[in-house]
Amino acid sequence: MAKKKTLFECQACGFQSPRWMGKCTSCNAWETMVELSSEQIKFLKETQSTSSSTTAAKALPITQIEEDNITRFGSGSKELDLVLGGGIVPGSLTLIGGSPGVGKSTLLLKIAGNLAKEGKKVLYVSGEESSGQIKLRANRLDANHDNLYLLPEINLGTVLSELNKQRYELIVIDSIQTLYSDETPSAPGSVTQVRTITFELMRIAKSLHIPIFIIGHITKEGSIAGPRVLEHMVDTVLYFEGDTNSELRLLRGFKNRFGATNEVGIFEMNKEGLNDAKSMAGRFFNKEKLQSGSALTVIMEGSRPIIVEVQALVSEAYGHPKRSSTGFDNNRLGMLLALLEKKLDLPLGTYDVFINISGGIKINEPSADLAIIAAILSSYRDRELSAQTLFLGEVSLTGEIREVPSLGQRLKEIETQGFGKAVIPNRPNEDTTVKCFIAGEVSKIIEWL
Ligand SMILES: Nc1ncnc2c1ncn2[C@@H]1O[C@H](COP(=O)(O)OP(=O)(O)OP(=O)(O)O)[C@@H](O)[C@H]1O
Ligand SMILES: [Mg+2]
Ligand SMILES: [Zn+2]
Repeated sequence: MAKKKTLFECQACGFQSPRWMGKCTSCNAWETMVELSSEQIKFLKETQSTSSSTTAAKALPITQIEEDNITRFGSGSKELDLVLGGGIVPGSLTLIGGSPGVGKSTLLLKIAGNLAKEGKKVLYVSGEESSGQIKLRANRLDANHDNLYLLPEINLGTVLSELNKQRYELIVIDSIQTLYSDETPSAPGSVTQVRTITFELMRIAKSLHIPIFIIGHITKEGSIAGPRVLEHMVDTVLYFEGDTNSELRLLRGFKNRFGATNEVGIFEMNKEGLNDAKSMAGRFFNKEKLQSGSALTVIMEGSRPIIVEVQALVSEAYGHPKRSSTGFDNNRLGMLLALLEKKLDLPLGTYDVFINISGGIKINEPSADLAIIAAILSSYRDRELSAQTLFLGEVSLTGEIREVPSLGQRLKEIETQGFGKAVIPNRPNEDTTVKCFIAGEVSKIIEWL
């Protein structure tokens, strides 16, 4: 009798192994390995062998190949078009991820409505909500139009047969985790299901030349619930950011086969839905007066400068000192604190330090280092900083303050928003009315304060 074959699959990344492991060696997740049934193994084998024996394609010299002609179309939302790299690409598969309630369905229903009004036939597939529920949202978003079709369905087969009946120009899948295929013997949301369905959707998008948007839930840790496999398969991955307490939502490009990923779309949640945010100015800071522990800086979100307020709370520690930050890298905070202790002789080792960036913004660039330091010093001394001054600069391990990219553009924003002064690492090349104080190293900051 043949020995029974076993196969385990990581539910987070899709990695397979003949042995069970407590920790996945591919993505380091704990207890995500699940044993596949003999049925599932058989299915996997079948799909693998068919995919390798499809009608033989012939290799051609690249010089004989004609390039794809990409003609994008607008989505009716400037911000979404910006993140997508200039609009929707026909035949592309886009994944939109975000935590519960962040506004994924709201945004895509609105886009679906926009395009329907322009005369495009749109199919909205929802496995999460009833048609009635979606209709309610559509009323609120003003997305009602004869060209917008709803299909409350979780079976991929039904979706496919619907696509054979009518020619659609955009498809929205809400969400990938609720859809399942009869042909795969595993639960909806599992790696095998998601892989099969995404593969199938990719095939539809390419062969029918229609753009498909897929909604994916993300876990607390910030990855698409379960399947990371999804990210590799689709053309574009966009993630929602922003806390549900503030009305602002950022949509950040994570991967884009048709454009750059450095742009960020900024939306505003209100009762008419998720709309392009009108003006960013003044959203992330209080111009009138700063409390002690607050400092202002300018970050670049894609090509746009945004003024944000960083807040620090430094208080005497009882027991082991805590360091914690929201919207800023905790390791980087540790580095800055060690530097302050070493260069400025501050006894921060006996203090708790908390950092928060206002408005749910996440700072991913080191140019905010100087503002963080200014906020920490301000809280430590309990003295407020001037609400007229902004801080820009990356701090190195040696305490030097380094140049920041796009300094000219940032100073221009400072000027436009009516601020008078800035502490910066080097003299700007452009003329500016902002009074600049040049700080080449951290110890200079104390002098300035
Ligand atoms: N009448 C309303 N006025 C203002 N905001 C509303 C209203 N109704 C819902 N919202 C907002 O819409 C959000 C829900 O958006 P949506 O259902 O699009 O999120 P989602 O990302 O699709 O969530 P899920 O993961 O649960 O599907 C709510 O968190 C709320 O902030
Ligand atoms: Mg939803
Ligand atoms: Zn894994």
